[in-house]
Amino acid sequence: ANDKVQVEERLSKVCELLKAEVDYYTWVGFYFKNGDKNELKLGPFAGEPTDHTIIPFGKGICGQVAVSNQNFVVPDVSAQDNYIACSIHVKAEIVVPLFKNGENIGQIDIDSNVPDPFTEEDERFLEFVNEKVAEII
Ligand code: SME
Repeated sequence: ANDKVQVEERLSKVCELLKAEVDYYTWVGFYFKNGDKNELKLGPFAGEPTDHTIIPFGKGICGQVAVSNQNFVVPDVSAQDNYIACSIHVKAEIVVPLFKNGENIGQIDIDSNVPDPFTEEDERFLEFVNEKVAEII
């Protein structure tokens, strides 16, 4: 069964694996729609803990993806005005929405301490990861 604890353990392993295997993935986490509220809630992650466990729809890169349903690749976070900083070391970010039965239910969020590291290969790869994740949640 898709027991909540078991799902969280598996997603946690996905985050740890991605962070360990891709050198420019500094922080990897999942955010999910928080019940019926127009906000995201932090799920499993790998990397430094963040203060931003709740993000209103529309706020920051994550909140924008919650409403746009589109990938958001940020080569240089300092050039973004609607951005929520989690660490002063972060240079770039990628957020890819996670769809279950066609509905945007959350996202994978990756921060990088390397400037401009993300390519279309990351986008395709993370879309694939999210498709697999959607099957187990
Ligand atoms: N930078 C994100 C906030 C989440 S942290 O990266 C973990 C944003 O602007 O939405």
